[in-house]
Amino acid sequence: MMMHALSTRIPPSIYTPSQGFHKCSFACRVLRQSPLAVPARAEGIESHRRSQVLRTTALGTLLSAFHMGSSKAETFGFDIPAGSEKWWTPETTAVVTGANKGIGWAIAANMAAQGIRTVVAARDEGRGKAAVARIQQETGSKDVLLAQLDISDGNSVSAFANWSQQHLPKGIDILVNNAGVAYKGNAFGPDEAQFTLSTNFWGTKALCEALNSQIKDGGRVVNVCSVAGKLRIIKDQALQQRFETASSPGDVETLAKKFVDDVRAGRHSQEGWPNSMYGVSKLCESTYTRILAKQLQPRRVTVSACCPGYVSTDMSSHRGVKTTAEGADTPTFLALVLPAEQTGQWWTDRQSQGF
Ligand SMILES: NC(=O)c1ccc[n+]([C@@H]2O[C@H](COP(=O)([O-])OP(=O)(O)OC[C@H]3O[C@@H](n4cnc5c(N)ncnc54)[C@H](OP(=O)(O)O)[C@@H]3O)[C@@H](O)[C@H]2O)c1
Repeated sequence: MMMHALSTRIPPSIYTPSQGFHKCSFACRVLRQSPLAVPARAEGIESHRRSQVLRTTALGTLLSAFHMGSSKAETFGFDIPAGSEKWWTPETTAVVTGANKGIGWAIAANMAAQGIRTVVAARDEGRGKAAVARIQQETGSKDVLLAQLDISDGNSVSAFANWSQQHLPKGIDILVNNAGVAYKGNAFGPDEAQFTLSTNFWGTKALCEALNSQIKDGGRVVNVCSVAGKLRIIKDQALQQRFETASSPGDVETLAKKFVDDVRAGRHSQEGWPNSMYGVSKLCESTYTRILAKQLQPRRVTVSACCPGYVSTDMSSHRGVKTTAEGADTPTFLALVLPAEQTGQWWTDRQSQGF
């Protein structure tokens, strides 16, 4: 089954670190947006996409990889800590969003290398095919599927959920929400804020909700957030408290909407918000992660937020100090190794920290 050709309505993911960074253990840094950038077009753009999947043929994928000029920038590799239980089997299924490149590609390759059935969810068919080809070639796994998914597009999310119900009838063991965007440079404005939150927060939330019933009891959800979205980026005490006490997805949505509205009204600073659209989007994503962990606890689903560190990808303009294999390490650790009782935590470099 062929995927439909996709329009490129979304600008490339971008992320430029600049001054004002604060360091985390692996030089993960707070971002500043710049005006450079890309037209913000999160909303209302025509989409004719349908989520479809194909098990790519060897010839097709190789041609596609060649055609797309598939980069070899990504590396992967994951060591299972001694003594940890290898609970997965070839029946185990992992879905990784934004898996056509960068950290997502490396996470998907790690899953495939473990013999896990891996769904590469990508918003562009050509880039997705090239990614599948490289994963198959470099891991030797044949059980790598390609599915179209644009998390910022409700229709695409619904179509993906329908597809997975049909093609993954035994359910999803592991969902890694890795897809994300960030503006390069100083871009800042209401449309840019809407676009950033529509992908990083609302898109991630929409996918979690759409796949909720398909995630198996005892499964794992890993949300790739960022140290740029830690609670401390909010200096205003009252606003910080609203994040700390948020107890439903609706509470987080209200805060996300308030940020966009405040930016639109030119009052975001006086309302206590920082100048980082990316930071706020990731704070909303990690706050949602904490709430989702509580919601799914009765079903023993382990839900984690993490920062991959400052990684050399397109998003960081390849300035990151970590390889993609190193960036994928903590998300892979959370997906495969983390004990189930440690749900609802925020991680970096395999260490749990506060939100
Ligand atoms: N790199 C870092 O230093 C760093 C630090 C902290 C956190 N992170 C987080 O790590 C994650 C991966 O980042 P990366 O560095 O690997 O970035 P990247 O190389 O730019 O890759 C981002 C991936 O997300 C996909 N994507 C973007 N918008 C999407 C959408 N609406 N629907 C589906 N897929 C979408 C991209 O697809 P296309 O190829 O189609 O654009 C791409 O596959 C992100 O969530 C990012 O915020 C990265």
